[in-house]
Amino acid sequence: MLTVALPKGRIAEETLEIFSEIFGGEFKFEGRELIMEVGNFRFLNVRNQDVPTYVEHGSADIGVVGLDVITEKELDIIKLLDMNLGRCKVAIGIKNEDELDWSKPNIKIATKMVNITQKYFASKAVGVEIIKLYGSIELAPLVGLADAIVDIVETGATMKENGLKVAEDIMNSSAHLIANKNSYYAKKDEILSLYEQINSVVKSRA
Ligand code: PRP
Repeated sequence: MLTVALPKGRIAEETLEIFSEIFGGEFKFEGRELIMEVGNFRFLNVRNQDVPTYVEHGSADIGVVGLDVITEKELDIIKLLDMNLGRCKVAIGIKNEDELDWSKPNIKIATKMVNITQKYFASKAVGVEIIKLYGSIELAPLVGLADAIVDIVETGATMKENGLKVAEDIMNSSAHLIANKNSYYAKKDEILSLYEQINSVVKSRA
């Protein structure tokens, strides 16, 4: 039995479609169900940022989560495969009428992604004051809470509708298949066989 942690929402749906394609049958969380068992798999329906936590602690053997979350959390897990879905980027956003002033001694950045932000500005030797938020990040520069934001841009609609533009890209992200280190050794055959099957579906969709 393999336990698979999936992030709620679109990535979970697309991942479950891949499982349906491989194994047949219905892979779908019903209502507010958090655990689903189908054949040799148990799926956990968890928050995006929590996927690597379940995997790192071994409560899930494998998981699917964005590279942005893996990078932000700096966890001790094995990255198996880029699943080529949920493509987005992490970018600096700023009001349309503003420019990022790199000479400012302390740029105020609102973000959920504190580590990625810290590292990016440190690599440019620019000081930042980071204001940690949990959502609706685009609001911060509009009300003067921050000079700019670091956030996920997928379609770009949220920034556009709020009068923001991308000032700079930080990284590309997409959903990755990850594994717990102990599980990877203890259940290597099962995990590698699943990896091969998912990889061939991912390739056929590319
Ligand atoms: C994410 C992200 C942006 C938006 C980007 O937010 O934080 O706000 O999606 O997508 P777009 O470029 O396609 O508009 P999410 O929906 O996860 O909500 P939250 O950040 O408010 O939790």
